Amino acid sequence: TRPGTMFEAIGGFDSIDKLVTAFYRRVSMHPDLIPIFPEDLTETARKQRLFLTQFFGGPMIYSEERGSPMLRRRHLPFEITPTRRNAWLACMSEALIEAEIEEPYRTAIFEKLSMTANHMMNTPE
Ligand code: HEM
Repeated sequence: TRPGTMFEAIGGFDSIDKLVTAFYRRVSMHPDLIPIFPEDLTETARKQRLFLTQFFGGPMIYSEERGSPMLRRRHLPFEITPTRRNAWLACMSEALIEAEIEEPYRTAIFEKLSMTANHMMNTPE
């Protein structure tokens, strides 16, 4: 693990794993998100662990498997409205607390993910 990265600062793979588990447990119960996610989130969560690891400065394991993230393009098949963006971020905000990601990292991560989430919107309300 490269020192000085967000990935290292928050506790590496173990913390990403806790965060992703807490996040998809919420997604699976959120009425605004259920319609667009698969019922079995195992594979979705696996890809998200790979992605967030690399997004926070850890090993580039998402791109090794999936290539360039091109996240906006990968989200085009799903109708991502402002309501769904808000729901996604609400699940993430609670998951950051459950996974015990401490400040200042919690806020920094939330802001980084908020910018990406804004970029994913592709459908008006
Ligand atoms: C995949 C929804 C934002 C990262 C997906 C999938 C859905 C989805 C429905 C497909 C799940 C599957 O079929 O397995 C949303 C919604 C968002 C959002 C509603 C609200 C704005 C984000 C953000 C990130 C992200 C902000 C990254 C920080 C990913 C990744 C995948 C994914 C890495 C897997 C892509 C792949 O196939 O390799 N998302 N997403 N998403 N999402 Fe999002």
